[in-house]
Amino acid sequence: MRHRHKSDNGTMKSIVILISGRGSNMQALLEEHLPCRVAAVISNRADAQGLAIARQHGIATEVVSHRDHLDRESFDVALATTIDRYHPDLVVLAGFMRILTPQFVSRYQGKLINIHPSLLPAYGGLDTHARALRDGVKIHGCTVHFVTHDLDNGPIIIQAAVPVLRDDTPETLAARVLREEHRIYPQAIRWFCDGHLSLDAEGKVLLKRREQPGSTLVAPGLE
Ligand code: GRF
Repeated sequence: MRHRHKSDNGTMKSIVILISGRGSNMQALLEEHLPCRVAAVISNRADAQGLAIARQHGIATEVVSHRDHLDRESFDVALATTIDRYHPDLVVLAGFMRILTPQFVSRYQGKLINIHPSLLPAYGGLDTHARALRDGVKIHGCTVHFVTHDLDNGPIIIQAAVPVLRDDTPETLAARVLREEHRIYPQAIRWFCDGHLSLDAEGKVLLKRREQPGSTLVAPGLE
């Protein structure tokens, strides 16, 4: 049965996915045979399209609206309270468009990951595709990373690179990157749930396992 696989030692990790909108990364995760249980999908917007997709997959959904809270701190406390009801091993940000407080980030240290549509540390923040096109870079991509206090700058787990083509618009480039997002996010979560990810003394990601060298870089257009 999907989302109900047991890992080698018999324990099954669980994840909670946070979204704000379309939810295509969330959908890619739900359609993979990940070695974990997807306990819930939580959105800060009741109109997030991804909520309906989650329900179609039989996943519990919750809305914690930032509009119901006076400040970032109280919103994050409410969000954490909702997340913790599901006791997840990992909190997965998948297009979650709220900046999180340091308290929230600390609470989930080493258990909070994000996908960002650029090859970090280049192009943190918004409008990554338009900025890459303006700069004329020839290579662009996406990054899965642990979330730390340094926005869009936590330890990198896996990246995918795509070529930037001469006639690209932000939309065509975004679509090329998004296809790769849908490949690398499930991979990163599989590694986490199988217990293969850890952080070394310098805070860099270690991939424990006999993964092939280079498995943390996906570069389909460059092969
Ligand atoms: C993705 O491009 C992701 O990298 C960024 O927000 C977008 C979310 O898209 N953080 P979706 O909601 O997963 O379709």
